Amino acid sequence: MASTKTTVGGQILRCRADRSCSLQPGVIELTDETITDIQFGSIPTTVDFGDENTLVTPGLIDTHLHLPQFDSIGALGMPLLDWLSQVIFPAEAKWNDLDYARKMIKRVIEQCVSVGTTGVCAYSTSSYQATIAALEMFSEAGIRGVIGQSLMDRGGPDELTIPTDRLIDEVQSALQLFPSDRRMATAVTPRFALSCTEKTMRSVAHLAKEFRATIQTHLAETRRECHVISDHFDGMEYTEVYETMGLVTERSVFGHGIYLDQTAIGRLRNANAVIAHCPTANSFLGSGVMNRHDHLSRQVRLSLGSDIGAGFERSMVRVGRAMVEAAIAKQFQSDAFDSTGSVDFSCVPKASEAWYQITAGNAEAMGWAEAGRIQIGHPADLVVIHPTIPWRDSGDALSTVMFAWDDRWIRQTILRGVVVDLSPI
Ligand code: GUN
Ligand code: FE
Repeated sequence: MASTKTTVGGQILRCRADRSCSLQPGVIELTDETITDIQFGSIPTTVDFGDENTLVTPGLIDTHLHLPQFDSIGALGMPLLDWLSQVIFPAEAKWNDLDYARKMIKRVIEQCVSVGTTGVCAYSTSSYQATIAALEMFSEAGIRGVIGQSLMDRGGPDELTIPTDRLIDEVQSALQLFPSDRRMATAVTPRFALSCTEKTMRSVAHLAKEFRATIQTHLAETRRECHVISDHFDGMEYTEVYETMGLVTERSVFGHGIYLDQTAIGRLRNANAVIAHCPTANSFLGSGVMNRHDHLSRQVRLSLGSDIGAGFERSMVRVGRAMVEAAIAKQFQSDAFDSTGSVDFSCVPKASEAWYQITAGNAEAMGWAEAGRIQIGHPADLVVIHPTIPWRDSGDALSTVMFAWDDRWIRQTILRGVVVDLSPI
């Protein structure tokens, strides 16, 4: 195997030219073999195995997805609240049948792994049994992350509505079974402020604090939703509702966050909370375009999610690409574009930043110290990619790979050093 100097912070991945990774069980270790990295700033995003047409990336991380919605992708033409009641709630009610749920969870795991996703921050349904099944099966598959019971004790159909006290007990049981030090752990998941009573929101916020668990919910996704929230909570602003309930914390991940004023942004920033940007879902449901550049300039932490099934892309590479497209689309609404007719590309992330976001950036947002980077001693969650185009010849190799992306280029997904069989999808 030809040798070039590695620049991955002096750290080299054990991986053979014959393409079979021979990693020590579970972790990345040093070898004298050769790779070079492609960086975002000082952060390595992917490694390039010089002589082979091989690119290795840290396993991709999806910080907002709904496991029971994988079969509902593509229900076009409805805004959020109608889509929820007409499409999503009936689909999620099917998970009350545990056999059905288990079969679907198996398929969802296969689909995640086939597109290189090795880490998830995911919603289940309001069924406790189905949620535990999802936690068990994702854990067995070796995927990292958190999954939460999608809490609903008001505002939904009977099949998904659980009595308040039972719901709170179930959250506690799940937290005990899958505590936050597990590779696959329970997330405290009030679906959104319209589906939970105040008692539930306050109680689960306490449980999240006690168990140091991730909190995930939806925030300011559509204008109509914001108005309904304000009517329901005596004129309160959406973020303030969650803050009052104790749900705005440094371990909170808020899906969408499109319609937030300065005060709301300030609340999130002060708590060090995260907004999970979901560009594909935002366009599919016609919700709006999140101002990523503005959020970042106000020092709010951001992550990126597929939001399947409002989002239609399983692949985080494609979602990363959609993040770039959304940033360009946002520019069309700017005064600068009106006056000059040109997009200000300094407000648009480069491919290397998008790739950073779907790996190390999302890991940082989730507080997963051992994920998202190719680093000695870290669990070997990796994706081996063979692009079938001359990607090295372009001025920006990663941009070429990202925008010419073909899912068939994924040759291996590796979880804790074990190559996963990608055949059944
Ligand atoms: N708000 C409350 N529930 C949901 C959901 O399932 N998907 C999306 N996109 N928004 C929500
Ligand atoms: Fe969502």
